[in-house]
Order: sequence, then structure tokens, then C-alpha cells
Amino acid sequence: METREHLLHRLQAIQRQFRHIPPQAMQQAATDYQLPLSQVAAVVAFYSFFSTQPRGRFDILFSNCTSCGYLVEGENLLQILCRQLQTVPGKTRADDLVSIDETSCIGMCDHGASMLVNGIPITGLNLEKLARIAQRVTDAIPVQHWPVEWFAIVDTVHRRDLLLAKHPVPGSALRQAFSQGAGETLAIIRRSGLRGRGGAGFDTGKKWQLSRDTSGNTRYVVCNADEGEPGTFKDRLLLHEYAEELFEGMTLCAFIIGATQGFIYLRGEYRYLLPQLQSALKRRRSRGLLGARILKQRNFDFDIAIVVGAGAYICGEESALIESLEGKPGIPRIRPPFPVTHGYLGQPTVVNNVETFIAAAHITVHGADWFKAAGTTASAGTKILSVSGDCGKPGIYEYPFGVTIRQVLDDCAAVAAQAVQIGGPSGALLGPAAFDRTLAFDDVSTGGSVLVFGQQHDLLTIHRNFARFFAHESCGFCTPCRVGTQLLQNTLDNIAAGRGATADIEELQQLGKIVQRQSHCGLGHTAANHVLDSLRQFPQVFPNRMRSPFTARFDLDQALASTRRITRQNDAAAHLDQHK
Ligand SMILES: Cc1cc2nc3c(=O)[nH]c(=O)nc-3n(C[C@H](O)[C@H](O)[C@H](O)COP(=O)(O)O)c2cc1C
Ligand code: SF4
Repeated sequence: METREHLLHRLQAIQRQFRHIPPQAMQQAATDYQLPLSQVAAVVAFYSFFSTQPRGRFDILFSNCTSCGYLVEGENLLQILCRQLQTVPGKTRADDLVSIDETSCIGMCDHGASMLVNGIPITGLNLEKLARIAQRVTDAIPVQHWPVEWFAIVDTVHRRDLLLAKHPVPGSALRQAFSQGAGETLAIIRRSGLRGRGGAGFDTGKKWQLSRDTSGNTRYVVCNADEGEPGTFKDRLLLHEYAEELFEGMTLCAFIIGATQGFIYLRGEYRYLLPQLQSALKRRRSRGLLGARILKQRNFDFDIAIVVGAGAYICGEESALIESLEGKPGIPRIRPPFPVTHGYLGQPTVVNNVETFIAAAHITVHGADWFKAAGTTASAGTKILSVSGDCGKPGIYEYPFGVTIRQVLDDCAAVAAQAVQIGGPSGALLGPAAFDRTLAFDDVSTGGSVLVFGQQHDLLTIHRNFARFFAHESCGFCTPCRVGTQLLQNTLDNIAAGRGATADIEELQQLGKIVQRQSHCGLGHTAANHVLDSLRQFPQVFPNRMRSPFTARFDLDQALASTRRITRQNDAAAHLDQHK
């Protein structure tokens, strides 16, 4: 295993020390890592947690998701804090005390409005808490001396089933696998019907088989703990309380495919979980469950390293994640070849979601039939959901696949929801007519997020929030996504500002389809889903905000006025005002 510090970690340490990445530090990193300076500069530019301009000694980032976002009962907490601390969003105050900005969902959606202060989450924001934060910043009290309860992240689990009800004994899945052999263990995983829990639902046993059967010098096991889809926080719970099972599942996978090295790619927003995860890894090493000759098994060495991301949703896409693991900007690769044959450093690599590895560990202990007894034919087992938004009981729910949306809404005490967004902004927006549909791969598929929108919510505001998210998170590699997501955002903003025209509806349709069909990766393929869903199911959302079907979105006459003056060409027939 490579012992050198990961480039992202080096840059994170520099960012913490200097509150930005100074040019000489970038140059030093380039020399140390034997990389062109341009490559290090590209990495710094790519990740939102790096900055080339100094940020404040208190660097505050408000989550801007629809659930853990900073709009609380009509109050914009970000603007209020900016006023209290006499600064403006996105700028560092002249005395460098504080910088305040927003960031994409930080995965605290079940805790209400949330922020990161110097990278540490504070949840449950309200006006009173905000005033106390402002006072501490003004008094320059270091974050370590702020009330500890502000930083406590409590995971509320409302429903436990196969995976959350019991913790298997550490090492029990491995012992079972060693006694029956790698081939038989893989056959059990395949028979169980386990499909990936990260969203796409690929057959897990098949993925492991493909990797096992591919020739390669070294194989890798990678856990995708990037969990950046707004409204998703179930992996936060799993990493916090079920880390043993995760490590067990990863080690099991390594045994089956013949890997010696594993990685957990942990989203930067969950850095606060790092010390606890590191000590859990250490504990397993001391018990012989990781490291050389695991459980005295000859010829089986495996260990796990944690790489912390730096604020880029696209790094959840598996090939972008691998690029990031290699210390590069997280730009999705052209596929095929797929990671399973050409992944990390070009070697066969299995990438799975946190929940998938945990399910594999349970299946090995309890058997394929135990797992298949829950769920549906095409969707075996259970799904862990992150439920948030307009409901009385936000939190984590584990259900057998096949549960109806209505059941979930009842259980989370959502009264008269006008819509739910299943699977985050990239998933599906569904109205009451679809509430009897089921959560399953062959019906409504989900990586685990259920966002509830009550009647009081303006759906156009939700669409603008989602559109802004995708425009911000697009990696910029391909034009349909880079430009299309921005145009979608602009069009929705125009409609919200009352400058929409009926032609915009057609434009949203066309743009949506272009982004969906012509983008390079899954981000683009799904970025317009919410708009296209709305056009089908809530067709009144957009026209309701248009003043007249003939309102021009763009004032052509005004834009051409100076050109007409200079060229002395009046082109009378082109005066739109005369056509009104
Ligand atoms: C933009 C984008 C973001 C993604 N984010 C995640 C993520 O945070 N976690 C995850 O497990 N999968 C995510 N995925 C899916 C991964 O690419 C990949 O399919 C998954 O990690 C495979 O694991 P699984 O088979 O266990 O689901 C994302 C995909 C896309 C296109
Ligand atoms: S679709 Fe978007 S996120 Fe994906 S490669 Fe293209 S620009 Fe990047």
C-alpha cells in the first residue's frame, strides 16, 4: 500500500493551516508529488472546499438543501447572520474574522437548518442559536470552546429491519466465508439477489464475479461513502453506528475477489466521523480482522484506508470517485471500460455503497433465503430510507422493498403531502396519484432519500433549488450538462421572476431532454428529471407564474437600442413593442 499522504489530504491540511492554498504550497505539493503544477492547480480549482483566496478564521457554510437549508419559516438565516456579522455572502470580512457562504446539502436533513463551521456540522439552527453563534464569532471564541451539544449529531431511527435490528458478531461473516470458501460465499451472495443500494441497483454478486474473473495484478475494494444526493443521510448513520459491519462486508468482498487493499471514500462533510472510523479500523486490526493473515487465514492480507473528499457531489459517481482517489479532479471517465475491470490505477475494482457491503455481511451470516424472504422478487431484502421535509418524524426508516410511498408518508407523519421527491433531486417527483406505488427497483427505485413537500411549499421554488444544485455541481466536462443545467436554472429563475413566456414550457421540455439524453454521465442524465416530472404531473406549476402568454422573456428592443442608434438602422419591422 502506498504510504504517502493522499494529495487531497495534503491540500486539506494546507487549507486548514492557511485558510487557503497559497501558490507556494501548491508548487511544493507539485514538487513532492512529482506532478505538473497545472495538475495540482486543477485539483485545487475543482473541489469546493479548496480556495485560492483566504477564507475567514470562522469559515461558515450554510447547507442550501430543501430540508437542511437555511430558509426557516421564511427567514433567510444566511442573510441574517451576514447582517449580524457585517459581511456579505461569498466574501471574507476585511479583518479576516469570518467568511459566510452556502454549500450543497451537508446530509443533516433530519436536523433542520444546518451549517459547517470550519468543517464541523452544527444543526437545528434557529434565530436564537444564530445570535449565539454570531456572538461567539464576534468574540473570536475558538470553535473548540463552543457548547459541545451544538455539535452532537443524533441519529433517529424510526424503523429497524434486517440490517438495523441486530449487529452480527464482528468476524462472524468472515469465519463463515473462510469455512465454506470464496466460491460458495459468492454463490450465496448471487442467490440472495442483492442489488446495489447506491441508486443504480446493479447485481452485486455479478459485479464481484466480474472482478474476480478479470485478470489483473492487483484488485481493489472501494466503499462509496460520498452520500452527496440532497436529502440522503442514511450512510451517515451506517458509518456512525454500523462501521463494523461495513468493514466486515468490504473484507468479505476482498476475500472473494482477491483484493489486498480497500478504500472508503468519505465525503468531506462527514469528516467529523473520521476519528471514530479510524479507531474502529485500529480495533479490527488488533483483533486480527484486518491486516496480514486475517483470522490466521494464510494468503489473505487486506487493509482499509480512508480518503476524505473535498466537496464535490460528482465524486459519488463511481468513475469520478476513482479519479478522485487517484488524486485528480473528479471528472467521470468514459465507460466502458467499467471500474470492475479497469478501476483504481487501471486495476479491477469493486465500488459499492455502504449499505450494500453491510447487506453482504449479513447475507453471509444468515443466508440467501433469510434475505430473500423480505422484499419482492426483483428487489430482495430491505432498503434504508432517509426521510425529511414536511413530516412530523424525520429520520431513518428501514423497510422491506415493496413498501408503498403512502405507508412511508403515514409512518413519518406527513400530513397532506402535495408531492414527494424519491431518490433526491436526481430521482423522481411524484404527486398523490402515485402514492400507492411501491419502492422497488422495478417500480420507484431509490438510493434512499424521501423528501416530503407539504401544501405550503411552492414547487417552483423546489425546482429552482434543484436546478441550482445541478448547475453548481456539474463538473463542466461536457457541454449538454454544463450549459444545459445553467439554462434550466436561468429559465426557472425567469419564470419565478414573472418574466416567463409560454415558449419557456417548450424550452424546458427540449432542454430537459437534451440534458437527459446527451450528457456524458449520470449527473447529466438525471439533472432534468425533476422538471420533466413536473411538466407531466404538475403542469400548472410553471404557467401559473406567467403574466401573459405573450410576455417576452428578453427585452429585444432595449437590447438593440444602442446598436440601432450607432448603425442608424431602425429595422422598424423588428420592433417587438409594436407587435404587442
Ligand atoms: C452524480 C452521481 C452521484 C452518485 N453518488 C453516489 C453516492 O453518493 N453513493 C453511492 O453509493 N453511489 C452513488 N452513485 C452511484 C455510483 O456511481 C455507483 O453506481 C455506486 O456506488 C455502486 O454501488 P452499489 O452497486 O452498491 O449501489 C452516484 C452516481 C452518480 C451519477
Ligand atoms: S454530465 Fe455533467 S457531471 Fe457528468 S461529465 Fe458531463 S458535465 Fe460532468
